[in-house]
Amino acid sequence: MAAAPERESWRPEAILGRLIVLRRHRAENLKAFMRWYSDPEIARLTRYQQAPLSNDDIQRFFYARIMGSDFLAMAIHQRDTDRLIGTCAFSQLDGDNGSTLFHITIGERDAWGKGYGTEATELMLAHAFTRLALHRVALTVFEYNARAIRSYEKCGFVVEGRAREAIFRDGRFWDEIHMSVLFDEWEARYRTAR
Ligand SMILES: CC(C)(COP(=O)(O)OP(=O)(O)OC[C@H]1O[C@@H](n2cnc3c(N)ncnc32)[C@H](O)[C@@H]1OP(=O)(O)O)[C@@H](O)C(=O)NCCC(=O)NCCS
Repeated sequence: MAAAPERESWRPEAILGRLIVLRRHRAENLKAFMRWYSDPEIARLTRYQQAPLSNDDIQRFFYARIMGSDFLAMAIHQRDTDRLIGTCAFSQLDGDNGSTLFHITIGERDAWGKGYGTEATELMLAHAFTRLALHRVALTVFEYNARAIRSYEKCGFVVEGRAREAIFRDGRFWDEIHMSVLFDEWEARYRTAR
């Protein structure tokens, strides 16, 4: 069945970038989620809990959230090979206040540090501020996740607060950093970059 036009624009079939393409998730992507989210390093970077998600939890997360309608989740594929390397999403889409929360995981470790995550974030921001007409995109990140923080800063996110010493990892406490970007800030950067 063809998607209704408004749904098509809300969750497009594909969003094309230079290095990557964002595509709608398909049921077969579950296999990759099973691998990514059982990796202890992914758990360290994305979860409050020390242990990775169980297989049952990953399945529930995949069907309820990634394939569900209250998340806007997109698969990240390398553009040249179409290889699936990760996932990104908006949750808590709040139409009354024009805001959402952003999440991203490049699950394939060999694809880290090659610009894919930054480009995926840029594409999702453009989608949020143009097609979805949002006002604010926010996220949280652990203080020790320097690669993620750098990537978010490159996309225009600024630190707006921190939950002090909210996570205990690697033998010490770290802050959870809260970052956001507002439409006006994004638009000003976009104009300058053109
Ligand atoms: C975080 C993530 C999305 C970033 O995407 P990526 O494709 O790996 O990162 P990019 O190559 O686009 O950009 C990373 C930037 O951080 C820099 N960087 C890498 N390691 C760094 C470190 N230890 N300290 C500081 N900067 C670092 C890179 O040099 C690059 O900046 P530059 O282009 O100015 O040189 C991806 O690594 C990921 O999904 N990691 C695992 C899960 C995760 O951490 N998710 C985020 C949870 S909040």
